[in-house]
Amino acid sequence: MSYRTLDGLDVAGKRVLLRADLNVPVRDGKITDLTRIERLSPTIRELADKGAKVIVCSHFDRPKGKRVPEMSLAPMADALAHVLGKPVAFADDCIGPPAAEAVAKLANGDVLVLENTRFHAGEEKNDPELAKALAANADIFVNDAFSAAHRAHASTEGVAHLLPAYAGRLMQRELEALTAALGKPVRPVMAIVGGSKVSTKLDLLGNLVTKVDFLVIGGAMANTFLAAEGISVGKSLQEAEMHATALEIVAKAKAAGCEIVLPVDAVTATEFRADPPIKIVDVHAIPDDAMMLDVGPKTVAALIAKLATVKTLVWNGPLGAFEITPFDAATVALAEAVAGLTQNGSLLSVAGGGDTVSALRHAGVSEKMTYVSSAGGAFLEWMEGKTLPGVAALEA
Ligand code: 3PG
Repeated sequence: MSYRTLDGLDVAGKRVLLRADLNVPVRDGKITDLTRIERLSPTIRELADKGAKVIVCSHFDRPKGKRVPEMSLAPMADALAHVLGKPVAFADDCIGPPAAEAVAKLANGDVLVLENTRFHAGEEKNDPELAKALAANADIFVNDAFSAAHRAHASTEGVAHLLPAYAGRLMQRELEALTAALGKPVRPVMAIVGGSKVSTKLDLLGNLVTKVDFLVIGGAMANTFLAAEGISVGKSLQEAEMHATALEIVAKAKAAGCEIVLPVDAVTATEFRADPPIKIVDVHAIPDDAMMLDVGPKTVAALIAKLATVKTLVWNGPLGAFEITPFDAATVALAEAVAGLTQNGSLLSVAGGGDTVSALRHAGVSEKMTYVSSAGGAFLEWMEGKTLPGVAALEA
């Protein structure tokens, strides 16, 4: 698809409605991770430096169309001011007189944050009236919220049809990275998909087998695939009702020329807790009373060897129960190998999804990948091959 970027756009003196994703992690009323705000700041700085009046809108959490004080965007406006190093104004509503009055007070280069769009029921319904009310205070729409682009909401989709619409720099970076990874990738391409349930990643696996040369399946999902092939997985988490589906995915992969890579050995334990007694066994020798909690060292060595033969990697989901030691070992070893190959220029690596980002951080390599997406659900839907409405609405 083609979309317009900020290149060459004259925004001086214009009111720019910037859809951001300020849906940041908050604990006890405090923002615990500024990544999304930091990644958004180049777009805001560029617009402000070019003389725009920057009007930031976003959702936060799921207030379901009601004003919920704990879900206000006021703390995010403060955090944004801190990151930008300049004052940021705040309007108590994203539409109506509070928004109009705050916008009227803006000078060129000023930044304003509007209150949570989801305080209005029309947001999630993509209500044309809400989209119209948002557009009423702006001349240009810029969408920088790739991570909310899987939602066809008034502030992500509706308003894009009412104003000249552009992709912000973060949106542009995400789209460029994702296109390089699965759109027109340099082959061979490997995808690593972890996570616990085949049932939640069916569309993802079904799409990937038609696009990639190697599909590595890790996490508890691998247990379901092994069990479907008649291998006894002991007490491991698995979905017995998904065996037929797993075999269909294997057959589809074969037909498409995609090699499915499953673990050959496993780190097992009889209890799921930190540092229990473990046994490393071949997948054909999993004790009846044990669970597979990570892939084993032979599997890791085989994956690293295969990785050295591929040019592009897309990664979603850890290989094991990485939150608990020692079941983070395979994910960490693989992440380090990916980082090394990326840094020496032989691999283009794109990763995304909440757990994946935490796992890469845990391994200390999130800065060493080609691109780590700040999106969760949107990254998954994009990997599933779905059209993201917020992106489609930017089509030039
Ligand atoms: C996200 O954090 O993935 C996005 O902001 C979307 O949030 P939502 O799942 O509440 O729509």
